[in-house]
Amino acid sequence: MSDAALPIPGSPEADILSALGARSIVLVGMMGVGKSTIGRRMAARLKLPFVDADTEIEAAAGMTIPEIFERHGEPHFRDGEARVIARLLDGGPIVLATGGGAFMREETRARIAAKAVSIWLKADHDVIMRRVRRRADRPLLQTADPEGTVTRLLTEREPVYRHADLTIASRDVPHDKIVEECIETLHAHLCGVPPADLASAVR
Ligand code: S3P
Repeated sequence: MSDAALPIPGSPEADILSALGARSIVLVGMMGVGKSTIGRRMAARLKLPFVDADTEIEAAAGMTIPEIFERHGEPHFRDGEARVIARLLDGGPIVLATGGGAFMREETRARIAAKAVSIWLKADHDVIMRRVRRRADRPLLQTADPEGTVTRLLTEREPVYRHADLTIASRDVPHDKIVEECIETLHAHLCGVPPADLASAVR
């Protein structure tokens, strides 16, 4: 990496990068919470590569996620997903956006805990529904009652997502605000610096 590709020395981004070492930043959470959008912007701030696990799975399989589900079924997709994430975590540091179900696998959670700092992007049911309606390429939501499916998945998954190292509320505010909160919270977590809001609240 040339100097031009490094964050400004002394900046929170530079501190985060040096505290991470070879560890990655992994975004987890439900479909539609903005893992890829936020991850891409975080990676740009930190000058790290951004990788979307779903895109990598599609490239490795040579077909789209709906095709993998249709031809081989969900268990096959999940095995491929676990393998791809394991490989990506060995090549850190990167910013990695994972598919909504990836963190549900214990083996993947253990790998993420060992090789990354995880951030749960948490959104409520209504925000998720508004966002997932915009795309029809999520096989799990091709049901007669997508709202009911999201409710069920949230009930199953939230207790597990909670195991992520950090939680950030994903809501309808500009993306850069969420990115800023992720950077501040990571900085606090990795470098022991309180996020600005907390610091001003205790002054
Ligand atoms: C899934 C989420 C999708 C994709 C697949 C399964 C899930 O990724 O991995 O359709 O189980 O929640 P996004 O969370 O990026 O939509």
